[in-house]
Amino acid sequence: MYEITRKVILNDAAFEVDVYAPRVAKKAQPGQFIIARVGEDGERIPLTIGDYDREKGTITLVIQAVGFSTKQMAKLEVGDSFTDFVGPLGEPTKLNPEWKHVIGVAGGIGSAPVYPQLRALAEMGVHVDVIIGGRAKQYVLWADKFAQFCDHVYIATDNGEVGTKGFVTNVLQDRIDAGDQIDCVIAIGPVIMMKNVVRVTKPHNIATSVSLNPIMVDGTGMCGCCRVTVDGKVKFACVDGPDFDGLNVDFDQLMERQRFFKKEEKYVDEHADR
Ligand code: FES
Repeated sequence: MYEITRKVILNDAAFEVDVYAPRVAKKAQPGQFIIARVGEDGERIPLTIGDYDREKGTITLVIQAVGFSTKQMAKLEVGDSFTDFVGPLGEPTKLNPEWKHVIGVAGGIGSAPVYPQLRALAEMGVHVDVIIGGRAKQYVLWADKFAQFCDHVYIATDNGEVGTKGFVTNVLQDRIDAGDQIDCVIAIGPVIMMKNVVRVTKPHNIATSVSLNPIMVDGTGMCGCCRVTVDGKVKFACVDGPDFDGLNVDFDQLMERQRFFKKEEKYVDEHADR
């Protein structure tokens, strides 16, 4: 169970895998996540579902190897298995078939969780565009997959290697200035990117959905680790989210909470036996 059936290296930090998990694949919906673990003492890592194939029984994940546990995952090859693979967890995204035009904004590995949401909307007949951002060309992910159903695939890179030189927010602002009528923006990527997307959408009162990634432990609403503040109320990302109304998220608090264990994470990454 939970065997890796396909693996693709995407760039120097991220890789894509298909994992055989038929019961998860049968129920997975856009916006949901799984918690995976490598080894009996492994850390529980939440990963948002990028795609699912109910016939093959597989879940597609894009993983960025940034810390000890995700680097352990990066060592798994086709034929290896995850020790645990729990899901689907979280609330499916609320997608409104009445929307006429939705823009997805994907930063780095955020392309993976944006993908099933836009595809589901496209299947409902909604016009969807995507803006994909990355530091350079190698970090712009899944443009070809989005092109299969998006009307426009915009790209922004920090160095201008492909697409617009600048940030996804520059492109989004351009689209708004050009008069695009947008019913909803779905933004998933680094917290600072989602915060800046909201800075662009809020003055125009454009509904903005974001996917939050606080530290999680149990993933079932019991430990309280994943609490975030939305519209002044405490929410648990694992059971109330991970998608929330971005216009009302306290991003500064989220960024502060994400830094809580930075020292410990760095120590483990540098000293743990591999
Ligand atoms: Fe424990 Fe959400 S991860 S309550």
